[in-house]
Amino acid sequence: MRFRLTRVSGAGLVLFCLLLGAVQSYALQLNLTDSKGTCLFAKWEMNFTISYETTNKTHKTVTISEPSNVTYNGSSCGNDRNGTKIVVQFGSAISWEVNFTKEASYYFIDSILLSYNTSDSTTFPGAADKGSVPVNNSLQTVKFPLNNIYRCNSLLIFNTDSVVQRYWHIHLQAFVENGTVSKKEHVCEEDIPVTTVAPIIHTTVPSPTTTPTPTPTPTPTPKVGNYNVTNGNATCLLATMGLQLNITEEKVPFIFNINPATTDFTGKCLPQTAQLRLNNSQIKYLDFIFAVKSENRFYLKEVNVSMYLANGSAFSVSNNNLSFWDAPLGSSYMCNKEQVVSVSRTFQINTFNLKVQPFNVTEGKYSTAQDCSADEDNFLVPIAVGAALAGVLTLVLLAYFIGLKRHHTGYEQF
Ligand SMILES: *[C@@H]1O[C@H](CO)[C@@H](O)[C@H](O)[C@H]1NC(C)=O
Ligand SMILES: *[C@@H]1O[C@H](CO)[C@@H](O)[C@H](O)[C@H]1NC(C)=O
Ligand SMILES: *[C@@H]1O[C@H](CO)[C@@H](O)[C@H](O)[C@H]1NC(C)=O
Ligand SMILES: *[C@@H]1O[C@H](CO)[C@@H](O)[C@H](O)[C@H]1NC(C)=O
Ligand SMILES: *[C@@H]1O[C@H](CO)[C@@H](O)[C@H](O)[C@H]1NC(C)=O
Ligand SMILES: *[C@@H]1O[C@H](CO)[C@@H](O)[C@H](O)[C@H]1NC(C)=O
Ligand SMILES: *[C@@H]1O[C@H](CO)[C@@H](O)[C@H](O)[C@H]1NC(C)=O
Ligand SMILES: *[C@@H]1O[C@H](CO)[C@@H](O)[C@H](O)[C@H]1NC(C)=O
Ligand SMILES: *[C@@H]1O[C@H](CO)[C@@H](O)[C@H](O)[C@H]1NC(C)=O
Repeated sequence: MRFRLTRVSGAGLVLFCLLLGAVQSYALQLNLTDSKGTCLFAKWEMNFTISYETTNKTHKTVTISEPSNVTYNGSSCGNDRNGTKIVVQFGSAISWEVNFTKEASYYFIDSILLSYNTSDSTTFPGAADKGSVPVNNSLQTVKFPLNNIYRCNSLLIFNTDSVVQRYWHIHLQAFVENGTVSKKEHVCEEDIPVTTVAPIIHTTVPSPTTTPTPTPTPTPTPKVGNYNVTNGNATCLLATMGLQLNITEEKVPFIFNINPATTDFTGKCLPQTAQLRLNNSQIKYLDFIFAVKSENRFYLKEVNVSMYLANGSAFSVSNNNLSFWDAPLGSSYMCNKEQVVSVSRTFQINTFNLKVQPFNVTEGKYSTAQDCSADEDNFLVPIAVGAALAGVLTLVLLAYFIGLKRHHTGYEQF
């Protein structure tokens, strides 16, 4: 009897520890309800690294993670369309607000507004008082399917000039129907392994004894994205491609597939140059700059990139002396097989199913393409022409000699 009792309390202790563990691993959790039940459910972790100015004109950096006194004042279910938001306060130091917009089959984050209050001298010691400083970013390219619980264990990083925002272990469902959180999980792209290195935390329970060794797995090919740039109402640049970035700053290359679904694009078209700029949560910018050269041809002249690595540090490379994707003006350039654009010693772009037209786009459509296989087959053309000519010459000579022979035999008959 006594034995049983100890066992029960032992199990109870384990359960208690598990609960405590769960509470600790998801410090932020919100379950908003309305008359039908749950209308919004979220649990996640986040921290912010903020650089601020001090009274003696130097800069200090602090990392703020969830304190014990988190409040969610101002969070709201809204109605079925708007007003849905999560608002979080870390005392008086941080206020964080996310609002959602619903579409027919998905919803998206309209904006993330982070404000930090340098008047809070315990969080920002020695700060030159700036009061509340807002930092705004939007995430409208990420589509969260309705009636699914979105799960993203991976670390997502957003950098702005003075703030690094980190989010991980996200479970989210906004616009919950019928009051019950969905059992269907929608896993974010970042949780689907694509890299040969493993910079991402997948486990909720870290085991201190084993450090995960990166196991090289064959990198999947990136999804093909369609990008375009408009000038007024007209499309002036078209690009279709799957992009994989290869950064070799360290011994193990960092391979990164660009996900078109979560990547924004802009650009501009000028008479002699055209630019396509991609950006997403990890890539501050990736610029492709095309130029016109003599003989009425265009080519990829310049690539500029600035992105954040898994550890949050920035990586930038630029090269304006490139010569790739060369084709006549008025046509497009295409290459279905994998091609490597080597930008620098530490940075290369692998392209898949590439098609680009940076100039003279008419009616928003690609013109005839020059295929990259033609680049290699070019030397075959003179050989083929030569061989054909030799063949014709042989035939002519053969015909001549046969004719001559006939002629002779004809003579002898008479
Ligand atoms: C902030 O989050 C990152 C990513 O999870 C983590 O590596 C880092 O230790 C955190 N910093 C603090 C101070 O909590
Ligand atoms: C949040 O609301 C609670 C109770 O309504 C209140 O006591 C607290 O001061 C509020 N916190 C903030 C940061 O507004
Ligand atoms: C979300 O917040 C931003 C700024 O805080 C505001 O401009 C925008 O209109 C809001 N959107 C919705 C759908 O409430
Ligand atoms: C900023 O922090 C100070 C000191 O904690 C507080 O008095 C003030 O109300 C805060 N301002 C905002 C906008 O939260
Ligand atoms: C919510 O309830 C309505 C009516 O019963 C049903 O048609 C709908 O499929 C339910 N939605 C979900 C996500 O279960
Ligand atoms: C990445 O770049 C390195 C160095 O250029 C190269 O050895 C490696 O094969 C590349 N990996 C991929 C997947 O392109
Ligand atoms: C690319 O980067 C270089 C160096 O940072 C800069 O000088 C150049 O203006 C950039 N090109 C474009 C088109 O922004
Ligand atoms: C982040 O990683 C890069 C290479 O992968 C390294 O050069 C850099 O020093 C690292 N930054 C920090 C802050 O650890
Ligand atoms: C540009 O590249 C060409 C050939 O690749 C090379 O000859 C030239 O020196 C390079 N120019 C600069 C400024 O690097």
